[in-house]
Amino acid sequence: MNVSRVGVYPGSFDPVTNGHIDIISRARTLVDRLIVGVAVNTGKSPLFSYDERVEMLEAELSDLEDAAGLASIDVRPINGLLVAFAKECGAGVVVRGLRAVSDFDYEFQMAGMNARMEPDVETVFLMASERHTFISSRLVKEVALLGGDFSSFVPERVGRRLIRAIS
Ligand code: PNS
Repeated sequence: MNVSRVGVYPGSFDPVTNGHIDIISRARTLVDRLIVGVAVNTGKSPLFSYDERVEMLEAELSDLEDAAGLASIDVRPINGLLVAFAKECGAGVVVRGLRAVSDFDYEFQMAGMNARMEPDVETVFLMASERHTFISSRLVKEVALLGGDFSSFVPERVGRRLIRAIS
């Protein structure tokens, strides 16, 4: 039996960072198809619109190698519950990145509630690579707003969009 494993990597991606790209590159080695789910409503006030967030993600993902044996990657909107989205996509796995201990509480609650709502969907955590452990979209935006150098935290194109968005 040839069962194809579908994984979902959900997030706000406001904007996509080098940390996100790293998790996506690693997650795609674990599944046959990876769906990057972009939250339409983030619950926060995003700097970038849904369309802008998707545009930036798609531009960066098109640069990732399309080698044989590597999962295809699609970007899709999450309009409601993550677990409903995962079921719709036929995904059995939700991938989340873990940076510091401070991420754990929120991720623990979310994984627990999602598991209770949808026991067939498993949440899998990837530890952020050492060079990305401190990167977050929120802090990148703060550094950008305050005129700091954020060039090593986001892809170049995203950096240019950030400068335009805050000026
Ligand atoms: O990048 P983020 O902001 O940490 O991503 C959060 C996200 C989008 C994964 C989370 O807010 C989410 O799952 N939203 C969908 C709505 C939902 O299912 N909420 C209940 C979670 S228990």
